[in-house]
Amino acid sequence: MQFLITVANSSHYQFAEAICTMMANAAKVRGTGIAKRTPDYIQQKMEEGKAIIAITDDIVVGFCYIESWEGRKYVANSGLIVHPDYRKTGLAKRIKKATFDLSKKKFPNAKLFGITTSLSVMKINSDLGYKPVTFSELTKDENFWKGCMSCTNYDILQRTDRSMCICTGMICDLSNVPEKNVAKNERKMWGKFTRFVALQKIKIKKKAKLYPKLNKIINNEK
Ligand SMILES: CC(C)(COP(=O)(O)OP(=O)(O)OC[C@H]1O[C@@H](n2cnc3c(N)ncnc32)[C@H](O)[C@@H]1OP(=O)(O)O)[C@@H](O)C(=O)NCCC(=O)NCCS
Repeated sequence: MQFLITVANSSHYQFAEAICTMMANAAKVRGTGIAKRTPDYIQQKMEEGKAIIAITDDIVVGFCYIESWEGRKYVANSGLIVHPDYRKTGLAKRIKKATFDLSKKKFPNAKLFGITTSLSVMKINSDLGYKPVTFSELTKDENFWKGCMSCTNYDILQRTDRSMCICTGMICDLSNVPEKNVAKNERKMWGKFTRFVALQKIKIKKKAKLYPKLNKIINNEK
């Protein structure tokens, strides 16, 4: 099956409602809680270019977005969701990888972290280079932890003074992640191209010495 996995933008606003419904339904099934999101919030993430969307046959089948905490020090890839009919096909892995790459591009020196009870998310995170850590290594930003208030296990987090809960914390220091090979290749190709253009200019100038008429063409003269 073909999926379009791309950075979301305002052309995807129409999918915000369906994304929220998917998230709410998944939270009910899991019996834990996913921080509640509104269509407005999802659209804001799309507008900021901080979300990855997966689409097939004009329906949304997956989503994930970036949030930042303590300024740009910590980032999280939150709200990962895959439509139930499209799970276990590697789609979450592809969405998470695209969100990871987008995070590196936008926040190259941040600490990327997440908390999860999901085994599949732990597997995906490990493959991306995240390491399990205690909650003491995660952001202290109150706004992040407020997101846990809608979880059915919030009392545990409160009881332990935010030092542990049912979720496992995982972190990846993006400053240790090499820039994407694609970006490197692009720079290499651009370097080759500019060298080629410079060489052509030298050749044309040499020729112009032999054929002065060429100067008129070079200088756009009639
Ligand atoms: C969690 C979720 C996003 C996974 O989506 P998915 O598309 O099925 O995941 P993938 O197919 O990419 O699988 C990723 C890995 O997890 C494994 N996996 C998938 N479902 C699994 C399950 N139920 N139990 C154990 N492992 C599982 C896969 O085998 C794969 O591992 P591998 O690369 O070693 O083979 C999806 O189940 C979902 O939307 N759940 C509801 C929302 C949710 O829980 N979000 C996470 C919040 S932290």
